[in-house]
Amino acid sequence: MTSRTLPPGAYEKLTGAVARDTGERRSAALWIHAAALVRHAQDHGLLADTAPAPGPDGLRKSLETLASCHPALAALTDPDVLPVWSQPLGEGAWEAVSVFWDGHPDLEDEHRIDGYALGDTYQLLSDDARKGRALCQTPPWIARLLLRLSLEPAMQEWGPADVRMIDPACGTGHIVMAAFHMARVPPARGRRPAPAGHGHRAVERALTAVSGVDLDPYAAVLTAYRLLASSATILRTPVERLPSGWPVNVAAADSLLARDEPLLAAGAYHACVANPPYITPKDPAVRDRVRAAYPQVATGKYSLALPFAALMLEHLAAPGGFVAQLTSNAFMKREFGRRYVEEFLPRFDARWIIDTSGAYIPGHGTPTCILVYRARPPVGDTVTVIRGNAGEPRIPEDPARGLVWSAIEDAVDSQLAWDHFRAGLAEFRQGVGNTP
Ligand SMILES: C[S@@+](CC[C@H](N)C(=O)[O-])C[C@H]1O[C@@H](n2cnc3c(N)ncnc32)[C@H](O)[C@@H]1O
Repeated sequence: MTSRTLPPGAYEKLTGAVARDTGERRSAALWIHAAALVRHAQDHGLLADTAPAPGPDGLRKSLETLASCHPALAALTDPDVLPVWSQPLGEGAWEAVSVFWDGHPDLEDEHRIDGYALGDTYQLLSDDARKGRALCQTPPWIARLLLRLSLEPAMQEWGPADVRMIDPACGTGHIVMAAFHMARVPPARGRRPAPAGHGHRAVERALTAVSGVDLDPYAAVLTAYRLLASSATILRTPVERLPSGWPVNVAAADSLLARDEPLLAAGAYHACVANPPYITPKDPAVRDRVRAAYPQVATGKYSLALPFAALMLEHLAAPGGFVAQLTSNAFMKREFGRRYVEEFLPRFDARWIIDTSGAYIPGHGTPTCILVYRARPPVGDTVTVIRGNAGEPRIPEDPARGLVWSAIEDAVDSQLAWDHFRAGLAEFRQGVGNTP
């Protein structure tokens, strides 16, 4: 399911109009988005006070209330994160923002209110996040496939109560939210019974299981808000009444370089899942620091996707942990990928290589692939490869049901069914062998 949004031009036009008041586009985008965030909380009964925010002062008051609900939301009152605290907004600009959100087709999907539209609209509003940090939301149907091939087997291996996953480039949290729901209601496959997913215990367990880190502090606090908003909705309570000690494992940090961030502890995760940035760092100082920290993969005009793969496989994943990423396939064709392909990747246990370059993924102009590895030396001699023969003949009306994407999902389903059948057969044979 994807959220409904207006044509990109509508967001650009509004940001431009508000920027005439704030003086620049970054703060304009954040003012506009903060108004959407507060509306989301009010519309869905997540704040005890459901009256619409009357002007900028009301907006700040609601942000204060949200920030006081949980330590993970404290950044909502930080002027370095949200310029609404340091920069005034004129009456005309506020009016434009209110009229825009009043007329927005829907700030959330019909069936779920866990913030997909909030994430998508942040991407559309903030060219700073889009162009500067490569924010590009991972559609929920892609997140689900990545998690089926990583978090799901990790839950089977380590158990739903103990499993831990991270997205170290979590953006506004599309992958983290899908992981939260999978951890809350584990798929009823394998031998472990699926626990119910709507009680306090299940919600707390799912919050404990998932983590996210992003360079962009506003994107990170949106992820934290979405986790709390979703928990509150499932438990039918305002966010304010959730236990403030509940784990919300989201941080704003440079995942590649911040070694003192507790969420980036070594070997802590059974599943690392990401759609990392594919850009080359623009700042030469950052480029050199990343190159120095990841000499094994950051060569030539490297893409950030390669250090992110090294971060997940060599640092974040527990031994044998699953690492799944949607990534640009440029490393297969360009010189910077040579050492990665010939020396780095062969050290790990490849499970799936899926060519998604023919699939239509909104917002992803770059041809992509999905790589799933385990953080251990290669085991056995089988890697499942799904090769693409052709691209989508036309842009599909529903990208989740595009011909290429559907064919990829069918191929994954058949292979997983075959794997389960073989595992069941092996267990059965072992049982027969053990019968006295
Ligand atoms: C393609 S988006 C990720 C989308 C996200 N996974 C989702 O579920 O929608 C890439 C993200 O990487 C973040 N990023 C870029 N460099 C980073 C770094 N060094 N450390 C952490 N996050 C970073 C950007 O801010 C951006 O949000």
